[in-house]
Amino acid sequence: MKGIHSILLACFLASAFTCFFASAFDPSPLQDFCVAIDDPNNGVFVNGKFCKDPKLAVAEDFFFSGLNKPGNTSNRVGSNVTTVNVEKIPGLNTLGISLVRIDYAPYGGQNPPHTHPRGTEILVVVQGTLYVGFVTSNPENRLITKILNPGDVFVFPIGLIHFQYNVGNTAAVAFAGLSSQNAGVITIANAVFGSNPPINSDVLTKAFQLDKNLVTYLQSVF
Ligand SMILES: *[C@@H]1O[C@H](CO)[C@@H](O)[C@H](O)[C@H]1NC(C)=O
Ligand SMILES: *[C@@H]1O[C@H](CO)[C@@H](O)[C@H](O)[C@H]1NC(C)=O
Repeated sequence: MKGIHSILLACFLASAFTCFFASAFDPSPLQDFCVAIDDPNNGVFVNGKFCKDPKLAVAEDFFFSGLNKPGNTSNRVGSNVTTVNVEKIPGLNTLGISLVRIDYAPYGGQNPPHTHPRGTEILVVVQGTLYVGFVTSNPENRLITKILNPGDVFVFPIGLIHFQYNVGNTAAVAFAGLSSQNAGVITIANAVFGSNPPINSDVLTKAFQLDKNLVTYLQSVF
């Protein structure tokens, strides 16, 4: 009996130990925010979507078609992201994964500096040559970059600001998986200079050490 007790105790301690390491990560939000309310009857959209009865699930719930088609890159930044997340494939709900196709216009097309608040990204280039990178958090703010060719894979860790820039003379194409059913995107320039309503220009003038006219100009562009 004593032997069994020590084995049980050892197992309990071992599992406690495992839990200690396994829980070294914050729970992931599935939306930008989820303000708590006292009245559960007025709550909506907590932890993603409501679930369909699994008996009624069909192949279409797990299917998307069209990622063979390039997005139109005739825009200010020269890129186009086609997102296949839980909005496009309802079966992705709760599975913590999604996919994008990114098209880049020839030389200079870029996916501008942005961050995914809820997902790490793993990107594979299938056509063209991309200069990619991300910046680590304060205080180092270290830039980590790489030139990628077809078949090359690069990882952008969750939350970090990153970009891709087409340095080849042809259109470029990449696909990327993201570790969230809805990773979200914050494009830095849009969020900072294009917020609605605008951030007081005095804040941005001081924060970015810019002339106030330049801030007003940037706010008009974004
Ligand atoms: C991306 O491409 C699609 C399909 O061509 C187009 O409808 C959409 O407007 C494009 N988005 C941007 C931001 O250019
Ligand atoms: C791409 O978008 C531009 C600007 O909106 C438009 O003029 C052009 O016709 C589009 N090209 C295609 C192939 O849809």
